Amino acid sequence: MLDQSDSYVTEDGRTIGPVVMEMKNITLRFGGVVAIKDISFDIREGEIRAIIGPNGAGKSSMLNVISGFYVPQDGEVLFHGKKRPPMRPYEVARQGIARTFQNIALFDGMSVLDNVMTGRLNYMKTNLFQQALWKGWAEKEETENREVVEKIIDFLEIQAIRKTPVARLPYGLKKRVELARALAAEPKLLLLDEPMAGMNVEEKEDMSRFILDVNDEFGTTIALIEHDMGVVMDLSDRVVVMDYGKKIGDGTPEEVRNNQDVIDAYLGVSHD
Ligand SMILES: Nc1ncnc2c1ncn2[C@@H]1O[C@H](COP(=O)(O)OP(=O)(O)O)[C@@H](O)[C@H]1O
Ligand SMILES: [Mg+2]
Repeated sequence: MLDQSDSYVTEDGRTIGPVVMEMKNITLRFGGVVAIKDISFDIREGEIRAIIGPNGAGKSSMLNVISGFYVPQDGEVLFHGKKRPPMRPYEVARQGIARTFQNIALFDGMSVLDNVMTGRLNYMKTNLFQQALWKGWAEKEETENREVVEKIIDFLEIQAIRKTPVARLPYGLKKRVELARALAAEPKLLLLDEPMAGMNVEEKEDMSRFILDVNDEFGTTIALIEHDMGVVMDLSDRVVVMDYGKKIGDGTPEEVRNNQDVIDAYLGVSHD
């Protein structure tokens, strides 16, 4: 049994560190709807943690609790061992958490480059007053932000479309631009809500490869919601399975796949 502070090395040679995020007995209600019922699990540094389950199971709600967007009625969220108070979205971002959405949320009329730049907003400290006082300061900041953004654009292989308005891109590339914007914030914890939903096989393979590369190259901890079991098995170190707001399984992909509750609730039926 691993302790919270333990580390271990995976079969493919990646180091998984101590627990960074702990969800303790989380319950979340919307009026009479209980979206999450008394769920506990943790996320370790450097791991790829999947959340799976049928539609309406409460997965997106859970991601919103992790991101601080929803504050649960019961339970605690511990981040680096400390209880996290309710936070504004920008405070969450400052803690090194970034996310993508189940439905694409980009600025359609803006170029890919400008969309990815918006991921840097938390790093833009100079305001107009300061810019007027000292132009050089603002320019230095702009240059630094550009450098990070260009590096990510290269990394995700979207150089060719950097000037293209997002509205003109096919779906799979829009999802990749969303990933780029999230990465522009240089997050320690990246939350992905169905990053491969609606993609064809080739697009899914590309996205899987980028997710693995991000984890490997930047050491980013990743929590993702995904429906495709093949993808989940390939990508994730550990899986939480949700059904009707409850946790019905938690473990390695292998453990979860052999869990009878999970098979009954989820794996036995098609979810495409
Ligand atoms: N903002 C909201 N207001 C009211 N009900 C919500 C809201 N978000 C989610 N729900 C309800 O909570 C349950 C879980 O939804 P969700 O977390 O989106 O599930 P999943 O992502 O697993 O499909 C559903 O019954 C859904 O209708
Ligand atoms: Mg969802």
